[in-house]
Parts: sequence; C-alpha cells; structure tokens
Amino acid sequence: MTGLKCDKISMKFGALSAVQMVSFSLNPGEILGMIGPNGAGKTTLFNCIIGILKPTSGKIYLNDADVTGMKPHKICRMGMAKTSQIMQPFMTMTVFENVLVGALHGAQLKMGQARRETEKVMELVQLTEHADKLSNSIPVPARRRLELARALASGANILLLDENMAGLNPHEIDEALKILKKIRDSGKSLIVVEHIMRAVMGISDRIIALNYGAKIAEGFPEEVVNNEAVIKAYLGEKLSSLKVA
Ligand SMILES: Nc1ncnc2c1ncn2[C@@H]1O[C@H](COP(=O)(O)OP(=O)(O)OP(=O)(O)O)[C@@H](O)[C@H]1O
Ligand SMILES: [Mg+2]
Repeated sequence: MTGLKCDKISMKFGALSAVQMVSFSLNPGEILGMIGPNGAGKTTLFNCIIGILKPTSGKIYLNDADVTGMKPHKICRMGMAKTSQIMQPFMTMTVFENVLVGALHGAQLKMGQARRETEKVMELVQLTEHADKLSNSIPVPARRRLELARALASGANILLLDENMAGLNPHEIDEALKILKKIRDSGKSLIVVEHIMRAVMGISDRIIALNYGAKIAEGFPEEVVNNEAVIKAYLGEKLSSLKVA
C-alpha cells in the first residue's frame, strides 16, 4: 500500500513503556489527528516513525518499504518529514534561507530549482512577507509556519506535525487550519498531534487516541471524542460541553 503503516510499535526507556504496541495506517491525502494526555507517548511515537528513535519493537512501512530504524535524513528523502514541538529554526539565518536548507538538503534540489521551490512553499504557507527577516525576529505564528515550510520544502509527501498550533490564538488557529487544508489539497498526507480539540476536530478525517503509550481509540472524530475511554483518560467530559480554545 502507499502511505504509512505502523505495525505494533513499542518504545521503552528503561522500565518505562512510552509507546506500547501501537498500530495504525495513514492513507494518501488523509489528515489523521493524534490526541492524548501529556506523556501519552505522542512525540515518542513520532520520533520512532521519523527515525530519531529506533523503536524497541515493531515495524514502520513507508510506501511498502520497511524504514524501521532508518536515519531521519534517509526517511526524509523517502518522503516523510516532521515539525518539532519545540521550534528549532536556524536562528541566525533568514526565513528564506531556513526554508532553502530544506529544499537543498531534504529534496536535494540544485540551487536554482531549490530557490523556486522555496518561493512556492513560502507562498503556500504565507511567509513571503517575512522572507528576508531573521528567523528569530518573526512572531510565533509565523515561526510555526516556518517549521511547516521547512518540512514541505524537503519534498515530503507525509508530514508529521507535533503541536504546530500551540500558543496560537483562536483567529490564528483558523488561519493555520486553512493552510493545513491547502497543504492536504496539494496532495500531502498529515498526522497532526494537537491538544487544541477545536483544531483537531476541525481538520481530522480520522483520530487516534493514546494513553500511557497505548492506542485506546481510533475512528471518525465524533466517534473518538464520544468514546468513554477517551473521555476518562483525556477529555474529562463530552466535547459538546467542553469549552475549546
Ligand atoms: N528520551 C527519553 N528518556 C526517558 N523517558 C522519556 C524520553 N522521552 C520521553 N520520555 C517519557 O516517555 C513518556 C512519553 O513522552 P512523550 O513526550 O512522548 O509524550 P507526549 O504524548 O508527546 O506528551 P505531551 O503532550 O506533553 O507533548 C513520558 O513519560 C516521558 O517522560
Ligand atoms: Mg509531545
């Protein structure tokens, strides 16, 4: 199959099972939301998928190829990239140069083509006005979009977004959701880890929920947020009665 398939991924840190036998797949063109309380294992699972960590057991298939334990730069060149929960731009470089790095080293384009790709990506994520600014001088929402732009410029078809909307106000979240939908419509698949339920509900085709490293629910957004185990572990009450930011 095309897309991403995770088969019984487990990750242990000493005695701690941070991820426990998690299986799921991501279909082409799909947006999969991933939710769960702090410490549920979402970032750890992303790090296993993208090659930052080697899972203790389990297999990861990208377009049918076994990529388990492969290095992140190789996985990136095979079409999958991640944005970080903690923003990590190259601070002393401009926004344009930051994105260009993705196009040169991720997609391995020649300079002329890399510059054109960078311009295209910056347009898509509405960063053009910030192109010549230093990356540490732009506001937080633009820095979030810079993370996205770098991942996109690497040529990846599958993007893993780890709390890319954290710290945004409701209006900025709406704008971010529009951009994510445009990215999906351009042919990409996304996994979106997010605590902002309005954002997850507004964008996900399906959602999976983790708790203590294990998958406790998977399905359409309405099914998952009404799942008793998810309410108990994470939401605390039914979403209809939750005030979501
Ligand atoms: N490198 C590590 N060494 C030891 N324990 C770790 C390491 N990374 C994560 N953990 C532990 O693994 C568990 C899962 O953490 P993880 O960061 O994946 O959770 P998360 O779902 O991303 O949480 P959050 O919503 O707060 O970002 C936690 O108990 C965490 O303390
Ligand atoms: Mg995390």
